[in-house]
Amino acid sequence: MTTKKIVLYVTGGIAAYKVPLLARDLIKKGYQVRVALTQNAQKYVTVDTMQVLTKQDVYTDFTLQKVAYVPHVHLAQWADLAVVVPATANIIAKMAQGLADDFVSTTLLATPGPILVVPAMNDHMWENPATQRNIAQLKADGKRVLEPAHGFLAEGYAAKGRMPEPIEISQAIDESFQSQDLQEKRIVITAGGTQEDLDPVRYLTNKSSGKMGYALAQIAQARGAHVTLISGPTNLTPPTGVDFQPVRTAQEMQVKVNQVYAQADVVIMAAAVADYLPVQTASQKIKKNQDVWHLELKKNVDILQGLGQAKTHQFLVGFAAETQDLIANGQKKLAKKNLDLLVANDVSRSDIGFNSDQNEVTFLASQQAPRKINKAQKHQIAQAILDEIKARQGW
Ligand code: PMT
Repeated sequence: MTTKKIVLYVTGGIAAYKVPLLARDLIKKGYQVRVALTQNAQKYVTVDTMQVLTKQDVYTDFTLQKVAYVPHVHLAQWADLAVVVPATANIIAKMAQGLADDFVSTTLLATPGPILVVPAMNDHMWENPATQRNIAQLKADGKRVLEPAHGFLAEGYAAKGRMPEPIEISQAIDESFQSQDLQEKRIVITAGGTQEDLDPVRYLTNKSSGKMGYALAQIAQARGAHVTLISGPTNLTPPTGVDFQPVRTAQEMQVKVNQVYAQADVVIMAAAVADYLPVQTASQKIKKNQDVWHLELKKNVDILQGLGQAKTHQFLVGFAAETQDLIANGQKKLAKKNLDLLVANDVSRSDIGFNSDQNEVTFLASQQAPRKINKAQKHQIAQAILDEIKARQGW
């Protein structure tokens, strides 16, 4: 249980209505939480709500009676982490300029510790060069900025600018306190499904969303590792700071993995690589002339098996996506691919595995009894996988 101190600075965007959920989640995790609201934020979330949830006075101006010291300086120094959530284009501009014209902006200017900025705004405001300049300035000043999500905006259409969900913000806050225990380690992670072309407009693929691999990349990066993320096509934004290598086919993925293999300390293959590909790829769109289309497929490259054969010093982690006999099938893959660790997951379930935010896995390693990791967010599963690798490597 953490005892870290967080101040949530809430500014006037509609996404502020989700901040009580974030505060509750942080309190449940053991964080001490204080809240400051701008005038405009109070249109979307009330002082009373935040006061009841945090059981603390809520800061709205410089006149907090109960505090016998200068409130903005006290709050600025109290925080282990300041989180601006949601951060409007206006507060981002003020922070970039060092403006201090209300309690929130003044306290942020007086904050000596780390600041996490969680932008949420209309897509055009986000894309505006002025906002992008301000974001670049904040990053240059050492602030951490969470990328807005792509999704349904208050305006009634889908675009980039949406605030990440409270649970994702809470995870990002956890990461801010992450120990740098994987520093200097070079970790290669694959993610997503591959695409194998039938013709210029059609391909074979699978249900992988990339969430498991991206969670691993994000956590490994937050723990200080140098991360190369080699990913098939997904809808996800690569975590900031990773060396991102987009690919489409299994062969492209193999080339990229092999390029970085010699320097890698660890390779984690979370990607769902197509086992088969069409014998022929048509150069023109195949016409709809036949009632039944017999596809001829051939075995694809097995990237992981190749890595297992060429292994020198690397710690090799594979996943097994199974719909039955999870442990027995997983054990076979562990041995056949010469792996140090195999993470088996049941992909017949809709609440875990493919495309879910959660997973439940079993660790398999030679001469070891299987170890089950209970169902949890993929970020927590990623932590457990990295902890297991660290323990086995004696780091
Ligand atoms: O992306 P998500 O939606 O978050 O879903 C996560 C996941 C279910 C894709 C992930 O948890 C997972 O199980 N990834 C492995 C999927 C898979 O291809 O499993 P497999 O049992 O078919 O392959 C065994 C291992 O060999 C895997 O590490 C795979 O990356 C690798 N492999 C497989 C085939 C192939 N031709 N080359 C490979 O390298």
